[in-house]
Amino acid sequence: MSTETAATAAGSGRSATETFQKKVREGGAAVDHARVDAIAKDALSALHDVIRKHKPSYAEYDALKAWMIQVGEDGEWPLFLDVFIEHVVEDTVNADRKGATGSIEGPYYVPDAPEFTSEGTLPMREDEAGTPFLFQGTVTDLDGNPLEGALVDFWQADDAGFYSQFAPGLPEWNLRGVCRTGADGTFKIHTIKPAPYMIPHDGATGAFIEAAGWHPWRPAHLHLKVSAPGKQLITSQLYFEGGEYVADDVAQAVKPNLVLHPTPAESGSGEQVTYDFALDPA
Ligand code: DHB
Ligand code: FE
Repeated sequence: MSTETAATAAGSGRSATETFQKKVREGGAAVDHARVDAIAKDALSALHDVIRKHKPSYAEYDALKAWMIQVGEDGEWPLFLDVFIEHVVEDTVNADRKGATGSIEGPYYVPDAPEFTSEGTLPMREDEAGTPFLFQGTVTDLDGNPLEGALVDFWQADDAGFYSQFAPGLPEWNLRGVCRTGADGTFKIHTIKPAPYMIPHDGATGAFIEAAGWHPWRPAHLHLKVSAPGKQLITSQLYFEGGEYVADDVAQAVKPNLVLHPTPAESGSGEQVTYDFALDPA
């Protein structure tokens, strides 16, 4: 068994929890009591209605408590929330944007990846498996004017569905990088196509999915954060036409205009696609 396939839910869960706690320490929001009152009241009341509807037994109530304790012990709250909740938060937060479409961030973003300008190859192993893939496009404002110095912060799973820094045995920045656009606003990122991603199934989130008889898969996807001075940062994901689970993402984070239609690469090796980002003003 390779070290990569030895990735466990507890391992990636712990890393995802630590990464999230670091992010919150660096920029937490102040408590707004009126907001907490309004949201907590509605959330609890929605849950009370579910109980009245389904009439769980005490055994079922205790199973819920035991499971919630386990999610914490496995460090899986970031994974669980990003799979089952985040897509609605993302949709409502970004509802008024006119530019590029967003999608969930998920638990595996790490800031400060290696940077290159205009065109570059993501850090990868010499024998990195997977179809070579050129992801290119232009970052513009809403009027289509190219933005110089925009950042395309890009991360993805490898050809086995694993993320560097969250699965063991991968180089630190494998398949993570930031492309800074040149004067014409364009970026060219050379990478490989990722594999579909399976939610770790040996922890509490996997137990939940299995208990419900669902499947634990997300379609193959690319993650990005695109930003430029004076513009709103957009966090998104892109998927591949015809890919497994595109129509059945466990995280419900696919939107029609986030599905790429790659073509054979002009270089003769692998595939390529052009996808542009228009950024809303800040
Ligand atoms: C999760 C993983 C992802 O790669 C993603 O994009 C969203 C969620 C998760 O395991 O929670
Ligand atoms: Fe992902």
